[in-house]
Amino acid sequence: MSKRLYIETLGCAMNVRDSEHIIAELNQKEPYELTSKIGDADLIIINTCSVREKPVSKLFSEIGIFRKYKKDGAKIGVTGCTASHLGEEIIKKAPIVDFVLGARNVSKLSKVIDKRHAVEVDLNYDDSSYSFGEYRTNPYKAMVNISVGCDKSCTYCIVPATRGDEVSIPSNIIVQEIKRAVANGAKEVILLGQNVNNYGKHFSSSGERLNFTGLLRKISLIDGLERIRFTSPHPLHMDNKFLEEFASNPKICKQIHIPLQSGSTKILREMKRGYSKEWFLNRCAKVKELSPDASISTDIIVGFPNESEDDFADTLDVLEQVRFDQLFSFKYSPRPHTKASTYPNQVPNEIASKRLTILQNRHKEILDEIMSSQMGRVHSVYFDELKSGGKISGRSDDGRLFFVDGSEELLGKIRDVKVTKTSRGALEGEVIS
Ligand code: SAH
Ligand code: SF4
Ligand code: F3S
Repeated sequence: MSKRLYIETLGCAMNVRDSEHIIAELNQKEPYELTSKIGDADLIIINTCSVREKPVSKLFSEIGIFRKYKKDGAKIGVTGCTASHLGEEIIKKAPIVDFVLGARNVSKLSKVIDKRHAVEVDLNYDDSSYSFGEYRTNPYKAMVNISVGCDKSCTYCIVPATRGDEVSIPSNIIVQEIKRAVANGAKEVILLGQNVNNYGKHFSSSGERLNFTGLLRKISLIDGLERIRFTSPHPLHMDNKFLEEFASNPKICKQIHIPLQSGSTKILREMKRGYSKEWFLNRCAKVKELSPDASISTDIIVGFPNESEDDFADTLDVLEQVRFDQLFSFKYSPRPHTKASTYPNQVPNEIASKRLTILQNRHKEILDEIMSSQMGRVHSVYFDELKSGGKISGRSDDGRLFFVDGSEELLGKIRDVKVTKTSRGALEGEVIS
C-alpha cells in the first residue's frame, strides 16, 4: 500500500502552487496518496504563511492537533513562509516537528524528508531553473510560477524576508511547463509571482530577456491555451504598453488585481509603495478606458501606523471611485523584519476594527449593485469543477464565479451562459450555446 500524505496549505496562490510542487517532489521518490484524515497519514505537512500574525499562531495550534491525532511513526514537516523566517526556532519550540523546509527551498525536499530535525531555509537558494515534477490539483487550470521572491521593500511586508530576492524564471521553462499543462487538459493558465509585471528585471541564467508584456505575447502563441490570468501585478509597473496588451490580447482574461493597500498618498509613501492615490486612480481609469468590461480586484490594509481619519477617508474615496469587483481587506498586523513594526503611532485595534467594518460594509453594498446588474447578461464561462447537487462551476472571462446545472460533459469546456440568478459571491445561469 502506498504511503499517505496529509497536507494543509495556508496563505496565497504561490503557497498553493508550492504545495503542488511538494506533492510532485514526493511522488518522484515514492508514490503518496492524499488523505484528509490526520490519523491516516504517514507524513503530515503544514505549508505556512507569515503575512499576518494570525496564520503564524495557527501553525503552533495545528502542530498541537497533529501531535494529538497522528499515528505512531508519522512524520511532521513545516514548509512555507513561516518555516523560512522562524527556521530552527520551530523545532526548538515544537520538537515533534521532523523537518523545516523554507519557501524557495521546495526542490530540496528529498534532502530533509529522511533526516530528523533537518532545516533548509536558505533565502538565497536559487531554484528558478529547477524543473519540478508534474502535479496539479485541477488539470483544467494550471498555476505556473514566473518569478520567485520580491524585490520591493513595502514597510509592512514580511514576504521579502521569507521568499528572498526576486528572480525571474527563464521564459523557455515557463513555456515548456504551460505546453505540458495544455497537453494534459488545461485551457487556462494563472501566472504567479509577487510582482508579475516586474518580470524580466532579474534573471540568474542567460537566455532570452523578455519583460512581462513580452512574456504574455510569447505565452499567448501556445496552441490550445485559451485563457491567461496572472496575479499579482504591482500598480507601479502598470505602464500603458502593458495595459494595451492586457486590453487587446484576446487570450488575456479581462480580470486584473490592482493592490491598492491605502488610498492616502501620505500612507502609501510611509508604506514605500512608490505610487500615489492619483497614480492608482489613473491606472484604474486607463484599464476601464481600454477594457470597459474588465473587473478589478484589490487588497487594502486599514490601520497602518499613523493612519488618520482623513487617510482612511481617502481609502473610502478610492473604493467609491473604482467600485472594485472583489476586495481583500485586512487589519494591519505588525510583522518581524519589517520597518513599519518599529513606527510610532500604531493605530489602536478598536479603531482599525471599526475602519475595517466600515470598508467591508460599503464594499458589500457596491458589490450587491454590481452583481445585480449582471442579471440577464451573457458570459463566456470555462467550466473547471464538478460540484454536488448536479451543479458544475466555472469562471467567466472577467473572473466571476458561475454555477450551472450540468455534469462531466461540460468539464474543460467554454460555453456561453446567460445569468439567471445573482448573489454577492456568485452567479447562476443557463448554458445557451
Ligand atoms: N505582492 C503582493 C502582495 C503579497 S501579500 C502585492 O504587492 O500586492 C498579500 C496581501 O497581504 C498584501 O497585498 C497586503 O494587502 C496584505 N499584507 C501584507 N502584509 C501585511 C501586514 N503586515 N498586515 C496586514 N496585511 C498585510
Ligand atoms: Fe510584500 Fe510589497 Fe513585495 Fe507585495 S510588493 S510581496 S506587499 S514587499
Ligand atoms: Fe504568500 Fe503568506 Fe508567504 S501570503 S508569500 S504564503 S507570507
